[in-house]
Amino acid sequence: MIAFEIKKIGIFSELTEDEIGKISAYVREQHVDKGVELFHQDEPGDAMYFILKGGVRIYLYSLAGRELTLAVLKSGQFFGEMSLLDGMPRSANAMTIEETDFIVLKRNDFLNVLHASPLIAIKILKDMSVRVREADAMIEDFALLNVYDRLIKYMEKLIKTDGRKEDYYTVIPHNIRRQDVASAIGTTRETVSRALSSWQRKGYIRLLPKKVIVYRDSMLRRLKP
Ligand code: CMP
Repeated sequence: MIAFEIKKIGIFSELTEDEIGKISAYVREQHVDKGVELFHQDEPGDAMYFILKGGVRIYLYSLAGRELTLAVLKSGQFFGEMSLLDGMPRSANAMTIEETDFIVLKRNDFLNVLHASPLIAIKILKDMSVRVREADAMIEDFALLNVYDRLIKYMEKLIKTDGRKEDYYTVIPHNIRRQDVASAIGTTRETVSRALSSWQRKGYIRLLPKKVIVYRDSMLRRLKP
């Protein structure tokens, strides 16, 4: 049964039955409710997690207590590998954003898996490279864009991933949670609220229960609150 679950994880998907069998002996399954803090930044780390179903947010706190979301990870992805590899404390906090099923691998077992399978080691390096690229892009945005341009960029991404295009507008079929946006672009909830209200007053967007309509979304880049 667990072998079947392990195959769902990207980095294990190409392993033989025999190799999966070996990994099955090391891992344990864990079910966690929504909103549970799995670990905190600066704690020692002794296990890594593979998401079978659900989602996890990786985030930091600023000195002022504001949150910055580094990544939202979904089914098939992993986290918690960094402190196992470099022996340093956890680099960030992790919290479930929905009910989530994991498989958990302890440090020594993880290191054994890496020694036994160069294919897995390469896949982990590949995923970590993708994350460094994303972190670079985030640093670039923080250095070169002001908060309103970051918000516009966030909205453009949302339109691309979740938007449904109609003739003169795009529908985003869910609420925009101000706090989630604020944590993603490194600002306060109030700033996000003010900008969205201002766009609504100017007729650029409509904030409706459970959906948002974005008019003239091709022009979003030029919007200023
Ligand atoms: P670790 O440092 O053990 O614990 C926190 C985990 O968050 C870390 O391992 C990575 O798995 C993950 N993580 C840290 N920074 C990022 C980032 N910028 N993007 C995606 N995941 C990250």
